[in-house]
This record gives sequence, C-alpha cells and structure tokens, in this order.
Amino acid sequence: MGAYRAYRMMKDPDVRVKATDTDGSVYELFLKGSKDRIDEVSFISDADDAVLTAVDTFIDSLKGKTVREGAALVKEQWGTLNDTVFSLADELITRYRVMIDGAHEARITNDDVNTGEKKEDRRTILVLSGKGGVGKSTVSINIAVTLAKKGYKVGLVDVDIHGPSIPVMLNIPKVDVLKGESGIIPLVLPDLYGMKVMSLGFMLEKSDDPVIWRGPLKNQMIEQFLNDVDWGDIDYLIVDNPPGTGDEPLSTAQQLAGKGEAVLVTTPQAVSTSDVSRSINFAKNLNLSIVGLIENMSGFVCPHCHATTHIFRSGGGERLASTYSIPLLGSIPIDPNIGVAGDIGIPYVHRFDASPVSDIYSDICDKITQK
Ligand SMILES: Nc1ncnc2c1ncn2[C@@H]1O[C@H](COP(=O)(O)OP(=O)(O)OP(=O)(O)O)[C@@H](O)[C@H]1O
Ligand SMILES: [Mg+2]
Repeated sequence: MGAYRAYRMMKDPDVRVKATDTDGSVYELFLKGSKDRIDEVSFISDADDAVLTAVDTFIDSLKGKTVREGAALVKEQWGTLNDTVFSLADELITRYRVMIDGAHEARITNDDVNTGEKKEDRRTILVLSGKGGVGKSTVSINIAVTLAKKGYKVGLVDVDIHGPSIPVMLNIPKVDVLKGESGIIPLVLPDLYGMKVMSLGFMLEKSDDPVIWRGPLKNQMIEQFLNDVDWGDIDYLIVDNPPGTGDEPLSTAQQLAGKGEAVLVTTPQAVSTSDVSRSINFAKNLNLSIVGLIENMSGFVCPHCHATTHIFRSGGGERLASTYSIPLLGSIPIDPNIGVAGDIGIPYVHRFDASPVSDIYSDICDKITQK
C-alpha cells in the first residue's frame, strides 16, 4: 500500500510536469521555487512501490538544490515544460531507469492527465438506500474497485456532505484538491487499478458548520462539484449517497438529467419496511433507470466452516425484486472481513481478492456491465 505516498500533490506549484514511462507508468512532478532554488518538490506516480521508494529519496535530495546556473523557475502553465524542469524530470526518469531497468528509454510528455473530454456513453450509477447503515458506501467502493479490476475506467465519488466515507474507507489523508485546465483533478489511486476518486470530504473546510450546508447552498455545492470534476474518459462513475431521498441524491439526479442510473441497497431487516419502495419511487420520479437491487448483510458466513447462516429471513431481496420487477443483482453475506477492510482503508475486494464475497461482487458487476 506504499503507493499512497503518491498523494503528495502540491497546491499551487510553480511548475508541474508530467513524465510518462515506456511501461505506461506516469510521474507528475511538482516544484515550488524562487529564482534558481527549489524550495519544495513532490510527485505523484503510479509506478510500483520499489520504484517509488527510490524516487522519493531522489526527490527529497532535490530540495534546496540550485537548479542550474542562471536559470530561473518561472511560473508555468499546467503541462508545459521549461528547460530546467525538463532536465529535472529527465534526470528523475533516468535515475529510476538506472536503478530499476536500464533497458527502458525515458519518454517525457506534457500531455494533460485528462483532456477535458467526457466519454459520451459514460454510465453514472447512484448507490441509494432508504435506510442508513445498510452498506451503500461499502458497496460503492467495492463495485468501483471490481469494475476497475475488470479493466474499466472508473471514477468514484461521494456526495455525502455530512458524512463522506470515501476518504476514511480508502484511507486517503487530507489532500489538497487541485484544479487543472479542465476542472478539479480527481485523485488517481494507482493501487486500485487507476481508479479515480473525488470526495466532498476533500473539499469541505468547515464540514462541522451545519448552517452553511443547508438547502440551496448544499445543492449548489453538489452541482458545482459534480460539474467541475474532470473525470476524463471514464466508463463508469459510481456515486455514493447519504441515506434517504434528500438533497444530495436529488441534486445528483437532476444534474444527470435523465441519464443517471441507480443501484439500490437494502438489508434483510429493511426489506419488510417501505424503505425500498420509497427508493424505487424516488429513482423513478427522477428518471433514474434502476439497474437493480443488492441485498447486503444477507446471512452470515462462518469464518471457520464457511456455512451460511441466515440470521434474518432469507429470500427477502428476491421477493422484493420480483414484486417491483427489478433485477436482484446479488446478495452479499455478512463477512467480518468487510468491516476489517473498511477500518484499515483497503477495499475488501482488493484485500480479500480470492473470496466468495469478492466473487459475488464480480457477478454483480457483470450484471451491471451487461445491462
Ligand atoms: N456485508 C457486510 N458484512 C459485514 N459488515 C458490513 C457489510 N456491509 C457493510 N458492513 C459494515 O457496516 C457498516 C455500515 O456500512 P456503510 O458505511 O457502507 O453503510 P452506509 O449505508 O454507507 O451508511 P450511511 O447510511 O451512514 O452512509 C460499516 O462498518 C461496514 O463495514
Ligand atoms: Mg455511507
């Protein structure tokens, strides 16, 4: 998990360059300096751990160095290079190559991460539930990671102003949100198959001030947030919502103007209530097309004998799905490791890759992609 070091993004760098290696790994270098001195330097990269450690040491050694006689660090636009920085990035790559694989040739590009272009057929899926605590955030994260693992380009975002879970569940420390030429730049998680992530949790300075986030301001914030993130050419955007049918899913659905989809999450305890039918009506009223229902915490898988015990009445999800004529995407049992994964900040399907529950997530995602 060392690649989380890759979050060392810099706010307002004087210079920012991108270097792409022949194996596809990408480095972005941030520098702050005055005249010919580098005061601060950091980078993000999706190269693997061993490489990052080496690069990290090298990067740190640059601090305080004189770049080049007479050369000044000038304020550069995102993606453009000047000689000084070019030679720095070049050296970075050269050193990395020498240490890891002398055969590769360094290639440096000044392409932007994203082009600002949006994939026309991107699917945006809202994860919804009537009740709280049924596992929306867990499901959102694990669906997103499973889709990314299957080779899709995926973005994951939460619009839960009062309790954004994604930073915690993915163990993302407080980061500076950067704005590129074509919008807010989402974080790229190299460990998680290049999945992109954005959370309201990254943006909120005063999340503890309830007055600020009431009503229209909250909607405005969400609208801006959804519109301004530069996701690039992702195939799927998974949106984790707070429970119920409040402002957040409402603003999100309105933003999508009939193009949004919904995955509903419920638990066996909740199915007997009217929660799910409320979510279904909500989705229908907002022109969200319902992909299906996921029954979470359905039965308990014994970690010792692997037998499933149905603590609550089984088959509720199936009955509900057939009552409302929506597909049942899958039933996910209670697995103590799901809680463990959430606590340590590594998605379950990544940490417990070969497990029956990961297989269920894989099936669920196949149903989603085949829709
Ligand atoms: N299948 C499962 N097995 C065991 N624990 C689970 C399972 N699904 C979710 N959990 C745990 O249940 C708790 C609630 O899950 P989560 O935060 O994803 O729910 P939520 O619906 O997003 O909650 P909220 O409505 O507050 O946003 C978490 O501690 C999570 O780890
Ligand atoms: Mg949640």
